[in-house]
Amino acid sequence: MAARAVGPTGRVVGVDLQPLDPLPERNVLLVHGDISDPTVQEHVARLCDGKADVVLSDLSPKLSGIKARDEAQAQDLADRVLAWASALLRADGTLVVKLFMSEDLQRYLHVLRERFRRVRTTRPEATRKGSAEIYAVATGFLTPD
Ligand SMILES: C[S@@+](CC[C@H](N)C(=O)[O-])C[C@H]1O[C@@H](n2cnc3c(N)ncnc32)[C@H](O)[C@@H]1O
Repeated sequence: MAARAVGPTGRVVGVDLQPLDPLPERNVLLVHGDISDPTVQEHVARLCDGKADVVLSDLSPKLSGIKARDEAQAQDLADRVLAWASALLRADGTLVVKLFMSEDLQRYLHVLRERFRRVRTTRPEATRKGSAEIYAVATGFLTPD
């Protein structure tokens, strides 16, 4: 979907801890690694020619079934996504990030609203019933300077 959206002159860079099977689209590049690893971050930035227009994250920690632990790990991962997206996005860029409904959600949305012009949340139709997952769509990235 992302490859189609950016078209043949655009580029999609996918990152995952798990090795990913190559995709047939020629404008999709895959990186195997941790988004928190500075080497991975630099590699991805190079593949994006420095900055990205959009960061899409459906990252999620391996769930243990222990609610407090899963929520803490999901929050930590979402914070790391936002920190990296803040460095990687171009001015006016977009971040779409998977979150989990928890006590931390309002804090996270508040931080997003300080950094983006418009923030909304959505649950795709494909989301399983009973799942705590929700997506934040933040547009109009405000660069720090
Ligand atoms: C819900 S799956 C989505 C996978 C894939 N995007 C898809 O649609 O099939 C969440 C993915 O987040 C990855 N992940 C979790 N923490 C990560 C991290 N720190 N860096 C990179 N990937 C991570 C996991 O390996 C897992 O594949």
